[in-house]
Amino acid sequence: MATVIGVSGSPLPDSNTDLAVRAVCEATGLDHAFFKLSDLTVAPCRACLGCLETNRCVIDDDGRVLAEEVRAARAVVVGGFTPYCTLDARTKAFLERLYPLRHRDGLLRGKAMAAVVTTAVPPGSSALPPAGDLGVDAVRFFAMEEGMAFVGSVVQQGNVPCLGCGYGDRCDMSALGMLYGPDATVDTTPVHCFARSGEVRRDAEALGRRIRQAVDG
Ligand SMILES: Cc1cc2nc3c(=O)[nH]c(=O)nc-3n(C[C@H](O)[C@H](O)[C@H](O)COP(=O)(O)O)c2cc1C
Repeated sequence: MATVIGVSGSPLPDSNTDLAVRAVCEATGLDHAFFKLSDLTVAPCRACLGCLETNRCVIDDDGRVLAEEVRAARAVVVGGFTPYCTLDARTKAFLERLYPLRHRDGLLRGKAMAAVVTTAVPPGSSALPPAGDLGVDAVRFFAMEEGMAFVGSVVQQGNVPCLGCGYGDRCDMSALGMLYGPDATVDTTPVHCFARSGEVRRDAEALGRRIRQAVDG
């Protein structure tokens, strides 16, 4: 069991979300553990209320294990991405499966929570909803409802899948034009990479330090 739990909902190996979550956890200077949800099985909540008396989910999968990890931790870093401009399904299922910790003593209360959200929607774009903010809000409102201390967030630019699919310049459904303008091509569209973004790394490290302060009180 670790003091800080980092969770990534991105299924891509060593994705921008993974790297940013790990950077936040490391910057806390506290012992931490990282979980990649696509390596685990976490079904969504069944709303059966079978956890009311036990604080334990009736579903026997990794969601139970993660809830025990979170129960023992002081801080949680939630990393997600934004398919269809909202928080991805794995990350949402992970949050839902913390519901057993709610009854009836508020076992999440007072713990620190932070969000890392990777989005393909460029900042200031009017073509699509503000996916990064919507993703952060999903985590922030969860923290609010559970009485957790929401410490802050990092929103980073990710890459639209059309950049790497091989048909990005030829496909009628390519999102490149929608996101970067009608003349955008695969070659003119920037590739975003956490490892090369000093600014995002600095934001992640600052967030980690804020988590440390929250944990130290
Ligand atoms: C099915 C699907 C739909 C997507 N739709 C959106 C979207 O509506 N808005 C958005 O910001 N990004 C969208 N994305 C792109 C992801 O947000 C982007 O791939 C993200 O940067 C991936 O983060 P990662 O590098 O950490 O895996 C979509 C991705 C997938 C796979």
